[in-house]
Amino acid sequence: MSKDPRSPDYDPADDPKVSTASDMPEELPNELPPETETITFHQRLERNATLLFIGALLVVSVGGVVEIAPLFWLENTIEDVEGMRPYSPLELAGRDIYVREGCYLCHSQMIRPMRDEVERYGHYSLAAESMYDHPFQWGSKRTGPDLARVGGRYSDEWHVDHLTDPQSVVPESVMPKYAFLSDVRLTGEHIAETMATHRMVGVPYTDEMIEVAQADFQVQTDPWGDIDGLLERYPGAQVRNFDGLEPVTEMDALIAYLQMMGTLVDFSTFTPDASR
Ligand code: HEC
Repeated sequence: MSKDPRSPDYDPADDPKVSTASDMPEELPNELPPETETITFHQRLERNATLLFIGALLVVSVGGVVEIAPLFWLENTIEDVEGMRPYSPLELAGRDIYVREGCYLCHSQMIRPMRDEVERYGHYSLAAESMYDHPFQWGSKRTGPDLARVGGRYSDEWHVDHLTDPQSVVPESVMPKYAFLSDVRLTGEHIAETMATHRMVGVPYTDEMIEVAQADFQVQTDPWGDIDGLLERYPGAQVRNFDGLEPVTEMDALIAYLQMMGTLVDFSTFTPDASR
């Protein structure tokens, strides 16, 4: 006689651990063996689709709240970075042109922290660098290069030539021509309203900035103008005639924007906080 179920001599009737239906009392008990009684709640839950759904929803929402809720307190997620300031009126007008022309369809503004990107474009983008962007211009398509740090990389003349006729400086370029930007004069007539609107969504423009917006707009293309106030309100603003021509045009505004992109934060003094 063997107790090994694989042995040919094995007979379950002799095995004390095995019970068969014939060992049972006449009526089979319609209840769970005592050791499974403690999990009956779970079993009920698993057998009831509605209850299971509600239970799953509860569990997932706890996870969701824990992960998502902290993001609502934005101060938590954007590190304080020295040098960031709202756009000057002229830069903001340039940014509006950038959005209007759909430059974001071919250009991203977010350098990812990967070696190839950092080597090509410079320090990876910080959240703080787009905190005054409404809407943000991170983009998901790079037909052309990332522009997050294009500021200062080329001369103003290069930008004028490139925007007027990209193929004149980069023969294989597929970028469209934007020569018409030089024909559209800008006076900054509505820039104060634009700034007030940005203030509504959290950009810290002061009453003073909005009051003198149009003057600041005009003076940023005039190095001989009274620029002290402008520089005090927008530290590091670049003041010059960007396209070299007399009237202030969309070309000036767009180049003013391109030339300041990614230049506000001084990365020789910035050290990322790894605990974030
Ligand atoms: C159809 C896609 C497309 C659109 C739209 C487009 N670009 Fe480009 N852009 C490119 C390509 C491709 C290049 C690379 C070749 C070159 O330099 O022209 C480029 C290059 C650039 C560069 C030089 C970047 C560098 O680091 O060399 C700048 C600046 C630029 N574009 C600005 C703009 C602006 C501003 C707009 C909107 C007014 C715009 N682009 C719209 C495709 C596009």
